[in-house]
Amino acid sequence: MTIFEALRISHEIQRELAQQLLATRGDSPEREEGFTRLRNELEVHSLAEERHFYVPLLQLDGGVELSRHAIAEHHEMDELIEELAQTALSSPGWLPKARALAEKVEHHLGEEEHGFFQRAGKLLGERQKKTLAQEYLRAYDELKKSA
Ligand SMILES: [Fe+2]
Ligand SMILES: [Fe+2]
Repeated sequence: MTIFEALRISHEIQRELAQQLLATRGDSPEREEGFTRLRNELEVHSLAEERHFYVPLLQLDGGVELSRHAIAEHHEMDELIEELAQTALSSPGWLPKARALAEKVEHHLGEEEHGFFQRAGKLLGERQKKTLAQEYLRAYDELKKSA
């Protein structure tokens, strides 16, 4: 498996959790649990992806700009997550904020899958793509256990 395949597996989980969350209503256990699951998933993925994909790319000529851009978007998603966490589940503002987060996530995943991965694919060696996949998956599993 390459790093790109490993990251895409996580992306599909995020898409599914985001859709599930948008289908919840009001102050319900489903909404509370759905938000916790999506938040954990996004945080664990961003951290493992930064450590085992973007940081290695930062060390390569041609990888700096895309890594900075992606890490800045992770930060923007963190802020949207924090804003949602501060909003009451029963608030009428909750769903629009959840939608804004889901749209930001989808935008980011699209940019990675249709832009950054192709550019990174030309910078990383074939062996490194496999090593990074193993490192990413190990970090993801570890972080999930402690999330
Ligand atoms: Fe990302
Ligand atoms: Fe990602």
